[in-house]
Amino acid sequence: MEYTEEILVERATNTKIHDVDFSNLAFGKIFSDHMFVCDYEGGKWQQPKIVPYQPFSLEPAAKIFHYGQSIFEGMKAYRDADGSVFLFRPMDNCKRMNISAKRLAMPEIPEDYFMNGLKELLKIEKDWIPTAEGSALYIRPFMFATGHGFHASPADTYKFVIAFAPSGPYFTGKVNVLIEEKYSRAANGGVGYAKAGGNYAGQFYPTHLAKERGYHQVIWTDDTTHEYIEEAGAMNIFVRINDTLLTVPTSERILDGVTRKSILKIAEDEGIAVEVRKIKVAELIEAAENGSLMELFGAGTAAVVSQISAFGYKGKDYKLPELKDTFGARLKKRITDIQTNKIEDPFGWRVKV
Ligand code: COI
Repeated sequence: MEYTEEILVERATNTKIHDVDFSNLAFGKIFSDHMFVCDYEGGKWQQPKIVPYQPFSLEPAAKIFHYGQSIFEGMKAYRDADGSVFLFRPMDNCKRMNISAKRLAMPEIPEDYFMNGLKELLKIEKDWIPTAEGSALYIRPFMFATGHGFHASPADTYKFVIAFAPSGPYFTGKVNVLIEEKYSRAANGGVGYAKAGGNYAGQFYPTHLAKERGYHQVIWTDDTTHEYIEEAGAMNIFVRINDTLLTVPTSERILDGVTRKSILKIAEDEGIAVEVRKIKVAELIEAAENGSLMELFGAGTAAVVSQISAFGYKGKDYKLPELKDTFGARLKKRITDIQTNKIEDPFGWRVKV
């Protein structure tokens, strides 16, 4: 593929940084001064640029609006006490972005466009990285179809963008979830393993119904039998039964989460018994009833670990015990301490920018 590596930089004339209360950040609500953009036209990626954060101008017939060619990634950057900036396993996100691109018939983004763009933007925006406990610079790389026409076929032009949102925690407090019996997040042969925007849009209505019933989130089950748990909201799911940590294997329907695989590795390193296998809803109910279900938590980049306090299934509610020391809290601490350069990183995951 032909491309130029030089990134053109157009600086913002004003900064918004002084209007931001970095000690009290919500998740994904405010955006830094600049973004990285690169257009795909004529079968190749064009000049990469860093420009002021601003709206796009798109044709009403742009295919993103009609046929949903849109993919994204979620990552974070951290700043340590010395002011050094770190990413966490960024190549994994880059690779997964291209897995998503392939599935949605979109062009793959060259790794050096992704990585150089990200690093250059971080150098310009490093003051936007929050350092308060539980906060980070949330990074959203995304790509969408700009090419237009009502023909239901892939677009011929695309835009790849990286935008930054200094963010606080995704969830505050423990969550109460509903095990879904009717709707599905993904199906075999579908796009469940891709980070396609539509995967999330499809979750909103069932989640809204669950919220009307007093739950915060949905636990997704398999599309054919609804007997096996698959994901927790927009996160991978972990279960602790007695002292064993379980999660379900990745598949065509389940996202290969960076936090998921990091947690598995850390758990193994800490001597926690780990099982990666299918988990029946019936097993969860039985464990809740006989007192062996200790923890349930979601894991993802945005929330890191989100502990579940209770779940509902077929009209009945099950409470998780209130433990003092949880695997979830322990694993979350180790992963965030690695990410923020507070402790040694024996796995080689941290990347200094
Ligand atoms: C993430 O955890 O980064 C995700 O991509 C989930 C997103 C819906 C906030």
